[in-house]
Amino acid sequence: MASTNVAVYPGSFDPITNGHIDLVKRTLRVFDRVIIAIAINPEKDHSLFSVDERLTMIREVFSGLGKRVKVDSFEGLLVDYAERIGAQVIVRGLRAISDFEYEFQMAMMNRGLKPNIETFFMMTGESYFYISSRLVKEVVGLGGDVSDLVPKNVLKRLKSKFTVRG
Ligand code: PNS
Repeated sequence: MASTNVAVYPGSFDPITNGHIDLVKRTLRVFDRVIIAIAINPEKDHSLFSVDERLTMIREVFSGLGKRVKVDSFEGLLVDYAERIGAQVIVRGLRAISDFEYEFQMAMMNRGLKPNIETFFMMTGESYFYISSRLVKEVVGLGGDVSDLVPKNVLKRLKSKFTVRG
């Protein structure tokens, strides 16, 4: 039987925000290890950062946590990936109620595909309720300050992306 104390935390992470980081820390209170898995979907990829850039940024953020946090990417179905790496739990963050419908649909679909894999929802910390990668990109692109919303390494890369783009 696969280990139950490994959780997969999947997402686009374009880029990772303080909300995601909060969720990883919460996950580590419950699970021994967390695998942060960037989903690659070449067909509908409008990402600002390449998969390699995202992997690097997330690895930089969690470099102090050793083997408890692994960062990876995958193509194809999340449940197939989870099974392949021996994880029985998918972790997702819930911010406001607006997240619920989308998350509920995904969890049910994933359960239908692989009933042995459970989805755990964690509430994001109160300070992160309103953060999303999409809004962070929009605000930086329009010259706003997001220094409280993303780690320093991400802020630096975000700024250089938008400077290069003009
Ligand atoms: O951070 P996001 O973009 O909301 O994450 C969505 C993600 C990556 C978890 C979802 O799109 C996903 O699981 N993609 C992998 C492909 C897959 O399994 N799709 C069916 C999901 S029910």
